[in-house]
Amino acid sequence: MKLAVDLARCTGHGRCYTLAPHVFDADDEGHCVLVTAEVAPAYEREARSAVVNCPEDAIAISEE
Ligand code: F3S
Repeated sequence: MKLAVDLARCTGHGRCYTLAPHVFDADDEGHCVLVTAEVAPAYEREARSAVVNCPEDAIAISEE
């Protein structure tokens, strides 16, 4: 699975790195940073949770 983050939409809600800490991190301003370009199968579930819980719809699955 690959993810794409639209940083123009991210306003720093922080749900992504709270729900999926193996996949996302925060920058100094609390915006989302992808930890890895390709999500390992073990972390796909938490990644999907982050995608559906981002209030700004800033994260998309780009490739299954
Ligand atoms: Fe940004 Fe959404 Fe995460 S607004 S910090 S990508 S929950």
